[in-house]
Amino acid sequence: MLGERRAITGSKGKELQGRKIALCITASVAAMESPRIARELMRHGADVVAVFSDYAAKLVSPELMAWATGNPVVKEITGKIEHVQLGGRGEDAVDIILIAPCTANTISKIAKGISDSAVTSLVSCAIGSRIPILIAPGMHEPMYENTIIKQNIAELKALGIRFIEPVIEEGKAKIATAEAITKVAIQMLSAKRTLAGTKFVITAGPTIERIDPIRIITNRSSGKMGVALAETALQRGADVTLVYGPGTAEPPAGAKVVRVETAEQMLSTVKKELVGADVFIAAGAPADFAPEKPYAKKLASKETLNVKLKPTQKIIDQVKKLNKNAKLVAFKAEYGGSSAEVRKKVQELFRNSKADLVVVNDVSKAGAGFGTETNEVAIYNTTMKIKKLGLASKRAIAEGIIEEIILQLKVR
Ligand SMILES: Cc1cc2nc3c(=O)[nH]c(=O)nc-3n(C[C@H](O)[C@H](O)[C@H](O)COP(=O)(O)O)c2cc1C
Repeated sequence: MLGERRAITGSKGKELQGRKIALCITASVAAMESPRIARELMRHGADVVAVFSDYAAKLVSPELMAWATGNPVVKEITGKIEHVQLGGRGEDAVDIILIAPCTANTISKIAKGISDSAVTSLVSCAIGSRIPILIAPGMHEPMYENTIIKQNIAELKALGIRFIEPVIEEGKAKIATAEAITKVAIQMLSAKRTLAGTKFVITAGPTIERIDPIRIITNRSSGKMGVALAETALQRGADVTLVYGPGTAEPPAGAKVVRVETAEQMLSTVKKELVGADVFIAAGAPADFAPEKPYAKKLASKETLNVKLKPTQKIIDQVKKLNKNAKLVAFKAEYGGSSAEVRKKVQELFRNSKADLVVVNDVSKAGAGFGTETNEVAIYNTTMKIKKLGLASKRAIAEGIIEEIILQLKVR
């Protein structure tokens, strides 16, 4: 068994080297993915111990998991008090608990503090020891949509327990992939976890507004800045919802991603997602104008076309009306302009939106703004004090912005 473990451990990376992970398996059909998940974690260097709920041990063979991990498995709590060994504060304790797949039953039991299987006993102990916990739910969609389950998930998130969103497909809330789960585990173990228990809603990317069924108006936003902010907030332990227009940047694993097309859809999604949010970052670039009346049929190419545009509703002006407790970080793209002009516009933005911070970037500068890999910004607070972040990768700029949010807005 050991030889088998050595053959693959660290073959893809060393991010989890020296890290011990309890992979808790509960009785979902997605338990067939558990050997793959264990081995993906091991390929990144982890030492994995499989822990079974009673029913899970009937669905997937403990022998298979013993082979896959190269470690003895835990099926029940014995005189060795395995839940305290792995989930306590001693030297055998794990660095992270991953429940993959996690059933609706186990989610609800954890939320109520029940400890009646090897999995729930271990998790009860780990919550007390403050060991990070990551849950990858897997169930049929109606079960996932059950209000009670949703409430239980919200309770656990409020405790700082991380969830990796399932993929809704074929009427099922399917467990995330082994690769996505591993990425989030790596993030959690490498993060300065100052944002655990907070909810961030971030918009990113452009919107598209239809002229006719095939012609659109859009802008050059790539979504890279918003995605970098989402990644950074996730790494620091926040619960992140990314409201994402059709950008080109790959959204991060671990975020709840809601895809939208139009400015109107972006606004209506933000309205829903703002419930319970601590921070809203408006890094998206919704269109300011949309065709007043989109044509239902494709227009002939020969005709002269007059399209009347109407202004869209400004999302940032709605945020404080919808959730007065959410801190609002507005973005303002400027094109040139003197510093006095920019100051005036920023003051106006503070007045209209009641923003808590305004991030300005001058997209006329080389390496700043739409589609680039880098950015350069000035962050204004409500007293018009400026923090400048010089030209750097969007990821580094995102780190700087999140740092200011923590420092100035006292989110945590
Ligand atoms: C074949 C099979 C597949 C199941 N799949 C799921 C599932 O995907 N998600 C879920 O929440 N429950 C599923 N269940 C129901 C759970 O197994 C049941 O609620 C059980 O009590 C869960 O126990 P546990 O959470 O202790 O593992 C399934 C049951 C069976 C027999």
